[in-house]
Amino acid sequence: MLIRYKKSMEKIAMGLLSFMPHVKEVKKLQQTIQEYNNNPNWHLFLWKDEDDILGALGVVIEEDKAIVQHISVDPSHRGNGIGKQMVCELRNMYSPMHRVTATDETKNFLEKCETEA
Ligand SMILES: CC(C)(COP(=O)(O)OP(=O)(O)OC[C@H]1O[C@@H](n2cnc3c(N)ncnc32)[C@H](O)[C@@H]1OP(=O)(O)O)[C@@H](O)C(=O)NCCC(=O)NCCS
Repeated sequence: MLIRYKKSMEKIAMGLLSFMPHVKEVKKLQQTIQEYNNNPNWHLFLWKDEDDILGALGVVIEEDKAIVQHISVDPSHRGNGIGKQMVCELRNMYSPMHRVTATDETKNFLEKCETEA
C-alpha cells in the first residue's frame, strides 16, 4: 500500500529516488528530498509491503493536476506489478479533484499503466 513519506524515512526514500535517471547525482538527490520535506505542493509516497519499503512515487500539484515526477521500484522487486499498483492507488487518491499526469521522464511508464488500466 501507498503510505505518505515522513522525514524519518528520508534515507530509504533517497535510495529509491536515486534510481530515477535525473536524480542520481548526490546534490540533485538532496535538493529533491528537501523539496519533498518542505514544499507543500510536493507529495511523496512510499510503497509498503509488510515491513519492507519497495517503491517511491512523487507528485507535484499544479492547480488541478497531480504530476507524477518520480516513480521507482527497488530493482530486485521490479516486474511484479508494484509500479502499476502505485499509479492505480495514486489515481484513486487524487481523483476526481486532480488529474494524474506525467512529466517527460515518467510518461512512458504512465502511458503503459493507462493502456492496461
Ligand atoms: C518504471 C518502474 C517504476 C516500473 O516498476 P515495476 O514495479 O517494475 O512495474 P510493473 O511491474 O508494475 O510493470 C512492469 C511493466 O512495465 C514495463 N516498464 C518498465 N519500465 C518502463 C518504462 N520506463 N517505460 C514503459 N514501460 C516500462 C515493463 O516492461 C513491464 O511490462 P510488461 O507488463 O508488459 O511485462 C521501474 O522499472 C523503475 O523503478 N525504473 C527505474 C526508475 C525510472 O526509470 N522511472 C521512470 C520510468 S518512466
